[in-house]
Amino acid sequence: MQLERILQSQGFGSRKECRGLVRHGLVSIGGEVCEDAFVELEPEGLAFAVEGETWEYRAQAYVMFNKPAGYEVSHKPKHHPSVFSLLPDPLRLRGIQAVGRLDEDTTGLLILTDDGQLIHQLSSPKRKIPKIYEAVIKHAADEQLVRTLLEGVVLHDDPEPIAAAACEILDPQRLRLSITSGRYHQVKRMIAAAGNRVESLRRVAVGGLALPADLGEGEWRWINAEELAALRAQPSDPV
Ligand code: URA
Repeated sequence: MQLERILQSQGFGSRKECRGLVRHGLVSIGGEVCEDAFVELEPEGLAFAVEGETWEYRAQAYVMFNKPAGYEVSHKPKHHPSVFSLLPDPLRLRGIQAVGRLDEDTTGLLILTDDGQLIHQLSSPKRKIPKIYEAVIKHAADEQLVRTLLEGVVLHDDPEPIAAAACEILDPQRLRLSITSGRYHQVKRMIAAAGNRVESLRRVAVGGLALPADLGEGEWRWINAEELAALRAQPSDPV
């Protein structure tokens, strides 16, 4: 594939813009500046640097991000800055989307990709992918709260009760719960319907992918092949 096309596929701009980057000596391969935008290269496994920053060719982008509070999960935010403003431009320009949304004040694991099929798989209500949250709550938790959440609560927009797939008390003010659907403000509304209140909320896992302890708030990293396999596995697949 021609270098300018490789750069375009990785989010460095239009073909013309990518050609400009190469012609201005801003692209290097193996430590050497490459000024031929039309040179044919094997993209798989290719490492290149643009303006001194090293990238590896990826046919598709799979990213995990530890969302901080105060950001909206939207390309067109209304009241707060967008989470996409915290990611490098090439990721945004190649069209990554978030898998599901987190509220502006929710923190934790957000998966971003330009693989439409994965977005569909992870968002499909049929697949019942568990999303695990830790909630700091206003009133001390007791076994009755856990039972209520596991048995199901009724939210105002649906007469069908909705239940947590799992729920445990981590300490009196902290609950860990798993949900397999993705309604608007679902965890906050479920906990409110059970007579308590969420003070803060953090997503700690999606399907088989847990938020790594060393990924700080506001940080992102590529999802590796093993993590991607864990994410793609059906919840019932043996691990
Ligand atoms: N449930 C909520 O209430 N908020 C989120 O951000 C995610 C799940």
